[in-house]
Amino acid sequence: MAETKKLYVKTYGCQMNVYDSERMAGALAPSGYEQTDSPDDADMILLNTCHIREKAAEKVYSELGRMRSLKDAKPDLKIGVTGCVAQAEGEEIIRRQPLVDLVVGPQAYHRLPAMEAKVRQGARAIDTEFPEEDKFDYLPRARGPKASRAPAAFLTVQEGCDKFCAFCVVPYTRGAEVSRPAARIMAEARDLVERGVAEITLLGQNVNAYHGEGLNGADWSLARLVQELAGIEGLERIRYTTSHPNDMTEDLYAAHAEIDKLMPYLHLPVQSGSDPILKAMNRRHTAEQYLRVLDRMRAARPDMAISGDFIVGFPGETDADFKATLRLCEEVRYASAFSFKYSARPGTPAADRPTIPDDVASARLAELQDMLTRHQREFQQAQVGKTLPVLFEKPGREPGQMIGKSPYLQSVFVTAAPEARGKILPVEITASAPNSLAGRLA
Ligand code: SAH
Ligand code: SF4
Ligand code: F3S
Repeated sequence: MAETKKLYVKTYGCQMNVYDSERMAGALAPSGYEQTDSPDDADMILLNTCHIREKAAEKVYSELGRMRSLKDAKPDLKIGVTGCVAQAEGEEIIRRQPLVDLVVGPQAYHRLPAMEAKVRQGARAIDTEFPEEDKFDYLPRARGPKASRAPAAFLTVQEGCDKFCAFCVVPYTRGAEVSRPAARIMAEARDLVERGVAEITLLGQNVNAYHGEGLNGADWSLARLVQELAGIEGLERIRYTTSHPNDMTEDLYAAHAEIDKLMPYLHLPVQSGSDPILKAMNRRHTAEQYLRVLDRMRAARPDMAISGDFIVGFPGETDADFKATLRLCEEVRYASAFSFKYSARPGTPAADRPTIPDDVASARLAELQDMLTRHQREFQQAQVGKTLPVLFEKPGREPGQMIGKSPYLQSVFVTAAPEARGKILPVEITASAPNSLAGRLA
């Protein structure tokens, strides 16, 4: 074993990056790296980046600029850029910010140990290939003491996207859709449960398009995979994200009706409520088709909490188009939602289209967010007086307080002993706030 070095990983973007960061730390452990929470004592810093909107991508360069003084103080410090900006910009990153030693895209993370060895010798290392092999087969899982493992974990089951929505960089930064074989997923899930995990969120850019090799050699759907996972003793909760409306299947509706461990929460982005805009976005579904998917889901699981993503100010969006989005939200009544102002991304089909004025887009975003916040508050308020099973995850800020999650992914603050961590206990909900609930052990 090499001497101990410190690794600091900063994660931007989606849950898939959170998962990847953990895997990268696992990959570098045999090279002698231990993770640290502070960039100041690090020997290697990795920024795991997001390219989805311009702001997200630019953040990386301001963060890198701030690292100049760290590198001046410690010339041996190595700085790497990973994730979707690394994939999209490659060596351009080093041209813009020469203090960067290493650039690696999401599909080449298993090559990180070799790249680390190379930069230790003073060379630079860049890898933005999409190799044939499954990187996860070559990435050791992060270990570490059982007690430090959070009770809820992410597990990537599908990666990449073949949908090519006109605004989106993901098909370019993550590559084509690939599903991991069920055997690998089951082994990883069992390993997580052995280390104290009670809830697993299956991740994929289009997770409900999952079609991996099943344990019997046949192609398995997401629903079939969930059914198998539900058989793992000690695994109490299963979630999945993000889904696409066009990949919803009968067996997934049925899974929600039949499998108790499958949580009643569905993140199903729609982006817009206007058919002409959906068409311009290349979403390949109408607002009506989206609403029918939700109807079927709610028929299978009446208490299903729905969450979504929206883009306002897409090129060509008129007032009437925007009103259609408001109408759709009024009808769905989202439990939570994420909304963004359109950001033109280099290399995407929509990038060259004339944009609408920024002040118009900002006003629409504010109006949409007002409505979404109101609906979210109503959903939060509707839990008061109910008794919900809460999975306790970590201590709260107040002494004697613990924070857990409801089935609907709400944070719940409860007075409870630290031993509650990792357990699911019934909690009577006594109060609601926009982003959390309070309750007492029932
Ligand atoms: N795979 C998921 C989402 C991926 S990106 C899906 O298919 O829905 C997460 C969210 O970022 C998207 O749902 C969208 O709302 C937003 N987004 C993506 N590209 C964007 C862009 N160019 N400008 C603004 N928001 C964007
Ligand atoms: Fe992007 Fe569309 Fe693929 Fe989602 S489905 S990742 S929004 S291209
Ligand atoms: Fe961002 Fe890449 Fe995720 S662009 S949202 S980190 S897939």
